Amino acid sequence: MLNQRRIWMDGELRPFGEAKVHLLSQSFARGSAIFEVISVFAADQGAAVFRISDHLDRLSASASALMIRLPLSRAKIRAAVLKTVSANQVDFGLVKLIAYYSGFGLEVIPTDPKVSFAVAAFQFGRDLSLSKLGEDRFATVGISKWRKLDPATVPIFAKAAGNYLNPMLAKLEIRSRGFKTPILLDTKGSVAEGATESIFLVRNKKVLTPKLDNILPGITRLSILEICKRLGIPVQEQNLKLKDLLSCDEAFFSSTTCKVWPISRIEKRRLPAPGPVSARLKEYFDQILSGRIKEFRRWLTYLE
Ligand SMILES: Cc1ncc(COP(=O)(O)O)c(C=O)c1O
Repeated sequence: MLNQRRIWMDGELRPFGEAKVHLLSQSFARGSAIFEVISVFAADQGAAVFRISDHLDRLSASASALMIRLPLSRAKIRAAVLKTVSANQVDFGLVKLIAYYSGFGLEVIPTDPKVSFAVAAFQFGRDLSLSKLGEDRFATVGISKWRKLDPATVPIFAKAAGNYLNPMLAKLEIRSRGFKTPILLDTKGSVAEGATESIFLVRNKKVLTPKLDNILPGITRLSILEICKRLGIPVQEQNLKLKDLLSCDEAFFSSTTCKVWPISRIEKRRLPAPGPVSARLKEYFDQILSGRIKEFRRWLTYLE
């Protein structure tokens, strides 16, 4: 099925198999591509892209951090996203945006300044396994021996391909120990995040999540914080330690792909999944995505 998809590359929709980059391109060799992953939902009024403006803001921040000059205006990127989603008839899936140095380069810095831009869109159940949505319904989690990249070494707030060696290693290690996915601590021993998810704990009915100091600024994380305020659920961004993971009442991950993903086990400790607070947040999130909550319709951009 994937070979029937079309990928937007530098201004035109091309067949899936023709969306190629040279083996010796600078971004392939050095991991300098920046990207975004955005979700599309079948809301009651039609297919809608979730929080596109926030994703484009984060893409700009990634570009600035890596000193990449995006080749398209924000309006043109937005149009390319909507066009690619429509062209591939996606109403429940993911869109991936990538900006990369496509030219040949053996040096560590790009010697050819050309930045290319691509957009791909995939439908759950057709192009992507539905299980990816929440992997399984619950996450079993191990604490990785790998620490989250230190913010003093690379801009960890940027979605840059090279940063993902870190969660890749953590996830491989944790899978080899029989868990689904990792939690990474930072280099000071504080809780950071999952492989590609933000983490939340619930203790005494209060929702806790790490501050932005040592993590990627997740757009779903931001949404959960706003939803908690709307529902009157006490919420706090704070430094969290291993002991907090081992003493919470509930825990869940959040991300574009999984939205709210309850954690049923952290190392040897079992947790209710979903616990009552996680279940309430998950249910409310689903309502927002279907377009039924008026004040959150601003998060949805319908296809023209
Ligand atoms: C390292 C990392 N943390 C957290 C997240 C969750 O971010 P978002 O909610 O914007 O998908 C991601 C998303 O892929 C990620 O890569």
